[in-house]
Amino acid sequence: MFSKDEQRSLFELSKQLLYSPQADLFAESPAERVEDLRRVLRYHEWRYYVQNDPVLSDFEYDQLYKQLETLEAAHPQLIVPDSPTQRVGKDLTENAAQVSHLTPMLSLDNSYNAEDLSDFDESVKKLCGLDKDSDIAYCVEPKYDGGTIALVYENDRLTRAATRGNGYVGDEITANIRTLRTVPLQAAFSQKGIAKVELRGEALIRKDIFEKINKARQELGEQVFANPRNAATGGLRMKDPREAAERGLEAFLYQLGYAVDADGNDVMSRFQTHDESIHLLESLSFKTPLAKGGTQQHLPATKTCRNIAEVIQFCNDWQEYRDEYPYELDGMVVKVNSLELQEKCGYTSHHPRWAIAFKFKARQATTRLRDVEFQVGKTGAITPVAKLEPVPLAGVTVSNVSMHNEEFIRSKDIRIGDQVLVERAGDVIPYIVKSLPELRNGTEQEVVYPKHCPVCQSELVKPEDEAIWRCENAECEAQVLARMVFHTSKHAMDVEGLGESTIEKFYKLGWLHSIADLYRIDYEAVAKLEGFGPKSAANMRAAVEKAKKNPIQRLLHSLSVHHLGQKASKLLAAEVEHVLDLRNWDLEKYQTIKDVGPVLARNVFNFFQNPHNIELLETMERLGVNLRQTDEDKKADVNTDGPLYGKSILFTGTLTQMTREEAEKRAAAAGASIASGVSKHLSILVVGEKAGSKLKKAQDLGTVEIWNEMEFLERISSSEA
Ligand code: IVH
Repeated sequence: MFSKDEQRSLFELSKQLLYSPQADLFAESPAERVEDLRRVLRYHEWRYYVQNDPVLSDFEYDQLYKQLETLEAAHPQLIVPDSPTQRVGKDLTENAAQVSHLTPMLSLDNSYNAEDLSDFDESVKKLCGLDKDSDIAYCVEPKYDGGTIALVYENDRLTRAATRGNGYVGDEITANIRTLRTVPLQAAFSQKGIAKVELRGEALIRKDIFEKINKARQELGEQVFANPRNAATGGLRMKDPREAAERGLEAFLYQLGYAVDADGNDVMSRFQTHDESIHLLESLSFKTPLAKGGTQQHLPATKTCRNIAEVIQFCNDWQEYRDEYPYELDGMVVKVNSLELQEKCGYTSHHPRWAIAFKFKARQATTRLRDVEFQVGKTGAITPVAKLEPVPLAGVTVSNVSMHNEEFIRSKDIRIGDQVLVERAGDVIPYIVKSLPELRNGTEQEVVYPKHCPVCQSELVKPEDEAIWRCENAECEAQVLARMVFHTSKHAMDVEGLGESTIEKFYKLGWLHSIADLYRIDYEAVAKLEGFGPKSAANMRAAVEKAKKNPIQRLLHSLSVHHLGQKASKLLAAEVEHVLDLRNWDLEKYQTIKDVGPVLARNVFNFFQNPHNIELLETMERLGVNLRQTDEDKKADVNTDGPLYGKSILFTGTLTQMTREEAEKRAAAAGASIASGVSKHLSILVVGEKAGSKLKKAQDLGTVEIWNEMEFLERISSSEA
């Protein structure tokens, strides 16, 4: 951990390194400069990854990182293995070596309710020779559901990392663990007289990051991970540390397993309690159960309870709260706080007698697979959907579950009629863990993957490098509908009031045949429809009229060309004056655009070679949809390289250096979006004189960065120079 004073001075130093004139910086020797950069980078990594509370923008952090990289490239003799740039090594962890843990990594006994916990408390008291009515203090922590790891630090350096393995011997995974920015490469244990130490913890992937990884994998037709734990344990074992680094793994350390001094004497006795040892880890910059779990956290992640009644209350509170926690948990761990009492309790060969896991209520259930339906997506991807006998699972009734692709069904040998195990973990979408072949009675049927589109009957194809079968008929009704729904969605043309159910309704009425028809809706007819009326018809019309004026990057994205996302649409839009210019592009021309690969190039090329699509766009233009790149759009283009890119900003109070309009213009030029009010989505509030309620609200939220006018000018200066 960094003291307030240290933090202040490291922050000042960061600013100096970022913003002082070059000449001042050459006053330092390269060795000094390199050391300064490492100190500030370690600090910012800790703020960002461990505290979840960065004080620099990503852009500024990158600038500091690049400075260090440049200096190290110029002075390779200054590179040390603990430098923040050296996290991703080039050594492969192929065929991981096996290593023995310094002390065995045991498991935990389980409890499921208040009674179990009271029984545990009673047995602890017995083992410690304490009176039945006495109070024992317990530490209660999240039981993280990821991959268990053991880290060894010798002479303040991370020297070894391993998986739990069988508890005695695990796989060596040092190169991969080094890529985790939550794991300090050096930590000053020597200050406490510790020469060698083994720490236990868990490597995890945040739930929202997990969802993103899976979505990307699904889009690429790769196998998706069943849950964050699988993605995490797989990430730990990646052969190439660069790939491990991309999984977004974080490590929480929750146990000091072994500690000796320079003479090899046990120094665990220097600690009196478990929470003291965790506070030591926290002070050495590790991420521990003491870390804030996320901005919306109401409960602390860990609590030292005075007695078992408090433990029970805390565990029950967490049972309710678990879904809001950004990481997957499968329960809480209750540990006797006093290390002296822990010793009195001792161990079985399987688990410590001083700790117990409190398992949250199951989110798994078995049910029967009634049937499999095949759905057609907007680009023709066929997704098998399991139709289950409805089953309650962690608060919702589950009856439809995606099974991703053919390989998913084959590899799990799932048959119609099977009893299947379904799991719903947190916010994660429910999925089928496995089938239960032992419960078969012989009437189960294999899932027959269709050869033809279930909606339009065209023959399905499976591109060689993909896992997904597709319907290639762009006129397929299912695709047409899915494309319309995507076309009006928020990230595409953003037409409010024209969502899935309305589109389906209009489609059934025969009003819509292609996306062009969305621009010739008969609003008078809408006004007469049940559930609509004149007001909603007028709103719909206004939303459609607004969408017609959208910049062409939105239009390109809205066309559902496979792999053409927001970013590539923007790059493409910047290259043309009119969308139909793309008719004349050949394949090579697409590939001259940075970030456009051969697959995307071919998809866009094919799209614009198809006369149906050209006709569609021409019709849309006739109906008033903008196909032309306007100067305004070019100007309004977000500056993705700007120092405020990705941030939303709001000005309040009286500005003294510039008008509000000017400030907003300059913020937008630096890449920021201008917010309309203070909310949890706001990144930065710039405060002028006599600021009032907005400032108060931002302070209360605690998630908004608050700058004065000068700070704002300083931050944007790099992009305006
Ligand atoms: S302490 C000697 N604390 O759960 C006691 N374990 O099911 C060691 N786990 O093997 C365990 N969160 O891998 C402890 N806060 C936590 C934990 C935790 C997750 C894992 C650990 C253990 C497994 C038992």
